[in-house]
Amino acid sequence: MAGRIPQMFIDDLLIRTDIVEVIDSRVQLKKAGREYKACCPFHNEKTPSFTVSQVKQFYHCFGCGAHGTAISFLMEFEHMDFVEAVEDLAHMAGLEVPREAGFETGTQSTTQPLYELLEKASAWYQQQLRNHSQAGRAVDYLKQRGLSGDVAARFGIGFAPPGWDNLLTALGTDATARQGLQETGLVIERTDASGVYDRFRDRIQFPIHDRRGRTIGFGGRVLGDDTPKYLNSPESSVFHKGQELYGLFEARKAMRKLDRLLVVEGYMDVVALAQFDINYAVATLGTATTPEHLERLYRAAPEVVFCFDGDRAGRQAAWRALENTLPVLRDGREARFLFLPEGEDPDSLVRQIGKQPFEQQIGGAVHLSDFLFDHLASELDIDSIDGRARLVDQARPLLARLPDSVFRQLMVEQLAILARTDVARLEERLVKPARQDQAGAPRRVPSPVQHGGKSPVREAIAILLHQPELAQQLEALPFPSSELLPGIPLLAELFELLKRQPGLNTGSILEHWRGRDAARHLSRLAQWTPLAENLDLAAELHGHLGKIVRMLAEQRISQLLEDETRRTLNNEEKQELKELLQER
Ligand code: UTP
Ligand code: MN
Repeated sequence: MAGRIPQMFIDDLLIRTDIVEVIDSRVQLKKAGREYKACCPFHNEKTPSFTVSQVKQFYHCFGCGAHGTAISFLMEFEHMDFVEAVEDLAHMAGLEVPREAGFETGTQSTTQPLYELLEKASAWYQQQLRNHSQAGRAVDYLKQRGLSGDVAARFGIGFAPPGWDNLLTALGTDATARQGLQETGLVIERTDASGVYDRFRDRIQFPIHDRRGRTIGFGGRVLGDDTPKYLNSPESSVFHKGQELYGLFEARKAMRKLDRLLVVEGYMDVVALAQFDINYAVATLGTATTPEHLERLYRAAPEVVFCFDGDRAGRQAAWRALENTLPVLRDGREARFLFLPEGEDPDSLVRQIGKQPFEQQIGGAVHLSDFLFDHLASELDIDSIDGRARLVDQARPLLARLPDSVFRQLMVEQLAILARTDVARLEERLVKPARQDQAGAPRRVPSPVQHGGKSPVREAIAILLHQPELAQQLEALPFPSSELLPGIPLLAELFELLKRQPGLNTGSILEHWRGRDAARHLSRLAQWTPLAENLDLAAELHGHLGKIVRMLAEQRISQLLEDETRRTLNNEEKQELKELLQER
């Protein structure tokens, strides 16, 4: 059973991780001085106020206040939980996440049993494909579809036997398990609420894995021509159709480096292509390609080829995919479209023509730019002025969705050629609407964290967070930790951590406070940057510590003086008071 992730591992992980790389692969960053900037992914803005510091390994947004470490970023941006974020970074760094024995992590406890149950269900379906008395029919069907045992095993294909309660009996051994089966949709409640029954009956089972390889749902195909042809697991707390891609985990596992992903429509297409050693196909789960899918695809590979039926419906679906792809098409990312002969799907085509010719077709797929302009032009007469005006009109909102990039520039140039106008004028028309609404919208005034008005304790903490190695110049803090001034215990704890573990960066320091109240204060202070580049921070720190010493002395003096009005001070206290007053 998974236990708590040791803090030391997280320290190490955040030292090896580069937050700039983590964020840049999702939100394109531009270098600005020592930092990196982008338009904030957490709120809508036109001028970048989202800042990433490589030195601090920390991001923050002056506009909306979002901030945090590489771990926080993944949690916020990718909606991962803490453990997932750590595992994702560890995967990138080539590290295995160690677990301490004896603890159950809180974040996993709600979904973990569901993952385990789905895993058990998957193993059970696979076992039925080998052992069930009716398994012969399923095996024959798979053979008839041309699948080898090898590929079936690679994709974990199984068999849900006929009958209403096979899985229920096998796995629903107690109330918790039965509840889990229902939550994941493996069993369905009867309409009269008199009990539950197996969702998947007499079907070939395709387990759906998330990017970490956990089983999150199933697709089940009938063995013949019954309807519905496919049944799918319903949405659940672990299964979100609009985000997941069938076969992505298997593709990443099969290929050391993915240069290209092929997006197809069906489970069978993915599996059949793998049978022909084309191991980079994925399928959406009976839905259109969503922006979340696209982010996921491009995170896995720089080139995505969408494979569609050549008929009208296929072209329409391709156009929708194109529209969704535009906003994520940064430089370095490519999208192409492969239209198959009518009546063929990748499964049938690859069987007919084989691997090489199929890959040749992929190689010849239409570039997004050509598809876009050809599609628009096909419905217009671009030899006429009217037609060319409408072309510009229709292309404008599409090109406006492209991120600022060389590609966008080239698209504008191409449009200029097709419309026989000049680029500068076109460019002006393209950006105008954006400028207008920018002027119309109330502008957020960036509110950089101010230096003034902070207590010396907070100043000291801010400086140590900004430049943690300054702690090494000090033997110890010139005062003991005490509750006399707010923030001193936090400062003392921070200082102690820095002495114990030199080499931590701002981000990794903050992770030590994750989940504690003080994290809020610390991360606010971590946003501070010195107003002047050449500020001598060591001297500043020294000055603030000195001030704290004096403030503590004053506190102590007034405390002793107050005590004196109520009782006689003992000798020690008298001596202390005398010395304190002298030092004043
Ligand atoms: P297809 O009907 O093209 O599936 O539907 P396929 O994979 O080619 O099926 P075979 O070759 O006949 O076995 C494409 C996808 O649409 C979803 C499934 O995800 C399927 O893989 N679908 C289709 C459903 O969810 N339900 C259905 O009844 C049919
Ligand atoms: Mn098919």
